Amino acid sequence: MARHEGKTEARKSQQAGDRATQASRGSDRGLASSVGEMTPEDISGHRLILGDCREAMAAMPENSIDAIVCDPPYGMSAEPDAAEVLSHWLAGDDYHHGGGGFMGKKWDSFVPGPSVWREAARVLKPGGWCIAFSSTRTSDLLGIAMRLAKLERRDTCSWIYYSGFPKSLALDKAIDSKHGAEREVIGTGGHCGVFAHSGGGTLQDFKGYTATISAPATEDARRFAGYGTALKPSHEPALIFRKPLIGTYAENALQWGTGGLNIDRARFAYGDQAWPGPQEIGDPDRFRGTDGGAFVAALDKHEPRAGHNLGRWPANIYATPKASTAERNAGCEQLTAITGAEATNRTEGSAGFENPRAGAGRTADQVANFHPTLKPQAVLRYFVRLVTPPAIPGKPPPVILDPFAGSGSLACAAAAERVASISIEIDPDYYRIARARIEHATRQGDLFAM
Ligand SMILES: C[S@@+](CC[C@H](N)C(=O)[O-])C[C@H]1O[C@@H](n2cnc3c(N)ncnc32)[C@H](O)[C@@H]1O
Repeated sequence: MARHEGKTEARKSQQAGDRATQASRGSDRGLASSVGEMTPEDISGHRLILGDCREAMAAMPENSIDAIVCDPPYGMSAEPDAAEVLSHWLAGDDYHHGGGGFMGKKWDSFVPGPSVWREAARVLKPGGWCIAFSSTRTSDLLGIAMRLAKLERRDTCSWIYYSGFPKSLALDKAIDSKHGAEREVIGTGGHCGVFAHSGGGTLQDFKGYTATISAPATEDARRFAGYGTALKPSHEPALIFRKPLIGTYAENALQWGTGGLNIDRARFAYGDQAWPGPQEIGDPDRFRGTDGGAFVAALDKHEPRAGHNLGRWPANIYATPKASTAERNAGCEQLTAITGAEATNRTEGSAGFENPRAGAGRTADQVANFHPTLKPQAVLRYFVRLVTPPAIPGKPPPVILDPFAGSGSLACAAAAERVASISIEIDPDYYRIARARIEHATRQGDLFAM
């Protein structure tokens, strides 16, 4: 990551200081020795481990985790050779892509393979849920890796955020460039051509970015005017897997506590915008006289209509915007901040920096939480509510695992929902941010509005 030397040094010395503080706090040495060199910390019921998740999970007991909710690397590198990937995975090997990943991040080079998910499946209790965010482009590979680890695909939930920026190439411009033809600039716009494709959304404030509008210079380009190469990203799928049950649902629940989704705890309140569908409360008679009439007749046998006033049944879509700056940076006030240019790996003033495609926060003066792929609290809390099994007297409280913690968003969500968690992160910079955010979240309790 190309960042200013001074700040990098400041951060390194802060990390050294952080580790000293951690040692003086006397973090849980029992677990520390069980994960080798890794140094877990306990933050009010939320364990944070710096290290590789496969190694950290290998040191955890079998069937000890109630649920996994995570956001693994999406693998936004160049298109892989799927046959080669599968031949490695089927032979029991790892596949190394070597690509740059999202915003050039090496850790995002490729989706975690079956060997990682085998460890996840081993530590998960039978019937435990494993929800993994993914990209619309690589979710097939992630799903296969999880299936090869003998996890069962149960559903997919779309996190809908609407506001993605289309990474689209204007085909007419590319053709003119190929022909070496110079285009005449015919105007400037507050938004660029690719964004004009995005379909009636609210125009974003691009903070000084002015796109030029140019006319096709060649006959070839004219034919392709208006053609782009990508849609506007508006949702991300979260793959919903489960470790196979042992016996029936009832038997599994009685033995392990797991297997069910907490429907009533996760219902959508009427009017909640997380449900982007029609908001009117359904007329119970709306199916009469239609093919749904039999359905209503069946419902009529069950008096009263149980659950109707509790809210909508939790759906496999959840709409919420990306994390706000306030949510992103809560608790990070004491950390060494970097600039938006550093965070997006751009040189200030360069063409790449000026382009809104550089990424969110590029023009910020100070970015304390510079993790590029933060997940919002609202959807994480929804998943925590769904997958947490009931506490059983005499047994340890339920615990949720996040093997790819990043800046600790899942643990913050678990703290807000009063559920214990374990988070693993391999990058010391992100680990430090995660620790600050989790400490803050545990102090706040129900911090984040949903
Ligand atoms: C998509 S990000 C997670 C972001 C997180 N959901 C948040 O809101 O901050 C994935 C994270 O996994 C970490 N990671 C990648 N490979 C890992 C591994 N083998 N073990 C532990 N962490 C890993 C990366 O450093 C990165 O921070």
